[in-house]
This record gives sequence, structure tokens and C-alpha cells, in this order.
Amino acid sequence: MKNSATKIKILLVVGVVLLFAKILFFNGKPAQPPAAASPCPPATAPFPSYDAQFAPSDKWCLDNPNGQVFQLSQNYEDAVKSVYEPLAWKKVVTTPEDFKIKWKEYLLAVLTYAYEGNVENDWVVQRNTRRRWFHAPWMHAGSTGREFLHGLTVERPSCAAELIDGKICDDDKLSINNWAVGIYNEPGGFYTGQIWREMLKPHPNPKNFPRDGFPEGTVAIKLLFTQADLDYLKNSVKWQADIYRGAMPPQTMRLLQIDVAVRDDVSPTGWVFGTFMYHDDAPPFEYHAALPPDKQSWLKVVPLGLMFGSETSESILNRQVPVPQHFGCRERLNGPVDNPKSSCLACHAQAEVPADLDFNKLNLTYPPMACDAETDKFWFRYVNPRSRKEAEKTLSAPDKKTVSLDFSLQMRQGIERCCAAKNACQCR
Ligand code: HEC
Repeated sequence: MKNSATKIKILLVVGVVLLFAKILFFNGKPAQPPAAASPCPPATAPFPSYDAQFAPSDKWCLDNPNGQVFQLSQNYEDAVKSVYEPLAWKKVVTTPEDFKIKWKEYLLAVLTYAYEGNVENDWVVQRNTRRRWFHAPWMHAGSTGREFLHGLTVERPSCAAELIDGKICDDDKLSINNWAVGIYNEPGGFYTGQIWREMLKPHPNPKNFPRDGFPEGTVAIKLLFTQADLDYLKNSVKWQADIYRGAMPPQTMRLLQIDVAVRDDVSPTGWVFGTFMYHDDAPPFEYHAALPPDKQSWLKVVPLGLMFGSETSESILNRQVPVPQHFGCRERLNGPVDNPKSSCLACHAQAEVPADLDFNKLNLTYPPMACDAETDKFWFRYVNPRSRKEAEKTLSAPDKKTVSLDFSLQMRQGIERCCAAKNACQCR
């Protein structure tokens, strides 16, 4: 007994001496091997490309040394405001009446423009040598935010009946995952930069956002991918996406829908929205350049319609669709995965921010999207931030004190996310 007590004392003394020696010789810093550089790309600034929580693992980066990791295109300060080249669709339509006859030609001219240099480079827009394209900031945050392979974000899910028969399902039947990514051309990137320059200030004030919204000539395109393995998508474009956020390997997603939005003064709202769907049997549309075989699928898309206002007469729908469509409320345009009780422009009219950036109050003021006589008055009213009448500038005007984001829902979602995050935008 005595013996072991002495041993413990000796051990204690040795321990204390070693501790002092460590403090003296290592100057308080624990000795560690130098940190090995991560095989993954460093985080981007000022805006992250994906949420750090859902970044690729070191193992993934080591196993995929040539794997493309999504990088946000965010040099907005280099973007010029005005277009510097003739835009093909401006020659197609000069009055709103022209849309009724030439809507397909118009949409294909826009699609061709958005494809150029992007399809060839797998939509890594930084590699496009023809034109500059930009992503929207702050779509990365949270589990619905950008995944690390292509920067896709969560979309409204679908049910099979919607995608095969154009039927409408109850919300609890919507179990097919859809993810998407949108980009803006240079005038769009310019406006995005102006908004976010304000948002990064110590006390951002939406009243300082550019008054006229996006410059004429702005184009946005959104690529929508589905998890559904449908017959008509067998040869569609396939992208891998980390939709289960590391819990399962990346999944194969198939191109289903392509949306475009164009700032065009011919439209009474200032915007033209159009949508396409992929179909294996669609004849490839005429693209200006030859594409390698693995990129030909991008051409098998069918225009489903165009809209330039929320009046039912301002939607032009394709009646010869390859797959039955539900379209939007009272035959207004929307896409195969969109909410059938809404429509492109009505849903996008929610692109507004409260002047005091308190989103909780604003969200409570929206009636449900029910597609009935009562709520239609709200959702399908005329909205145009460039209108001289205050009451028409935003969806919630004039009583709710909102500032327009000119139909950009990525801008709205980004601002909402940045305001909600800790140590990010100082909104209040
Ligand atoms: C029920 C709501 C809703 C409907 C209907 C809807 N969208 Fe969107 N759209 C969104 C949201 C939310 C975003 C931003 C997040 C994202 O990109 O997924 C968005 C993003 C976009 C973008 C990228 C530019 C931007 O605004 O951020 C385009 C282009 C677009 N939509 C076009 C369309 C077209 C064309 C239609 C109709 C065929 C349509 N949308 C219908 C909700 C909707």
C-alpha cells in the first residue's frame, strides 16, 4: 500500500515537470504536424458557392481529382449595364401582338443566345468565351441551398401523374425531387451587383436599390432537373447532384424543363417569360453550331408557351405538347414542375422586399395561391416596377411598403437567406 502511494506521488511530480517543460519549450502551443492542404477548392468570396456544411468531403475531392466543383460566377463589378450587340429576338417581335404569331421564333432566339458558349462548356459559365454570365448570391445557405456539383437548389417537387398526364396532385403526393440552377447575362449581372453592393453595407436600405430594375436586354435562364426516370427522359441530359447532402452518393438527375425570362420593353410588364420541356422524340431545334454527340440532347426541347402579362390573353400556350400539361391558373403559362394554381409572372411578382427588411410581416400578407375569384384579384394584378403609378410598382403596393426586385426570385430568396443568417447581412 505504502509502496503504491509513493509511486503515485512520483508519477504526479513527473507529470507536473513534463507539463512545465511543455509550456516552456513549446511556448504554450501544442506540437502538431503542419496542416495538410485540403484537396478541395477553397471557399469563394465575398459570396460562398455552397454551404460549408454541405461542401465536398476531402475524400470526394481525392477520389475525383478532375471532378468539377461548382464555383459561383460573381465578378459583378466587371459587368456592363447595357447590351453591346444586336439581340436576335428584338428583330422578331416589335409589338405585343407579334408574340401571338412569332412566340416560338422569339423563344428559340433567346434559347440559342443563352446556350451559346454555355452548352459547349457544360454550363461552367466562367469558361464561356462568347459572353459573361452570372449566378445569384446567397442561394447557397441551408439544406435547400446550392449543392456542390452544379449549384442546384431545391424546387417544388412533382408527382408522376403531373409529369406523365398533366394531372394535378395533392401536395402530400409530391415526392419526386426536382433541383435547378439559374444564371443571368451581363446586364442582369450588373443589376445583381448593384443590389448586393447595398446588401453588404453595414445598414442596407432597399430604397437605395436601382429604381429602374433590370436593364432592358437582361436574360435569365433556369435549367431544371428531375430525379424521375421517365420514358421520355431516357436520353435526356444527365447531371450528378448531391441532393442528399452527403448522406448518399450524388444522384443522377435528368433535364426536364428550361425556363427563360427576358427584360423586353415590348412587353407591358417589361418581361417575357417562356418555358420549354425536354422530350426524347422532339426534333432537335436548329442551333447555329454543330455540337458533339454527347451534347445533342440539349436540342431536343419543345417550347410550351410564352407570357408577357398576367391577363389570360397575355399567355400563349402550345396546344400540341408532347406530354399533357396542367399549365397554370386559368390557362396561364407555367412549366411542368410549377404550381398549377399559379403562373410564371404571378409567382415572380413576389420578388419584393419589405422596406425595413422584416420578411416575417410581409409573408403573412399574401393570400393563398388558390386560383379562385377572391385570391386571383391579388395574384394576377398588373405589376411593373417601372410604372409611374405607385400602386403598380410591387405586388404588395401601395399599403405594405415594399421595394421591387423586378421579378427576380433568386434575388428575393438570396436577400431573405442573408438577412436570416448570423454574421451575414445586417438587415435590422
Ligand atoms: C410558384 C412559384 C413559381 C412559378 C409559378 C414560377 N417560378 Fe420561376 N422561380 C421561382 C423561384 C422561387 C425562383 C428562385 C429560386 C430558383 O431559382 O429556384 C425562380 C427562378 C426563376 C428564374 C431564374 C431567375 C430568377 O427570377 O431568379 C427564371 C428564369 C424563372 N424562374 C422562370 C420561370 C418561368 C418561365 C415560369 C413559368 C413557366 C416560372 N418561372 C414559374 C418560383 C416560380
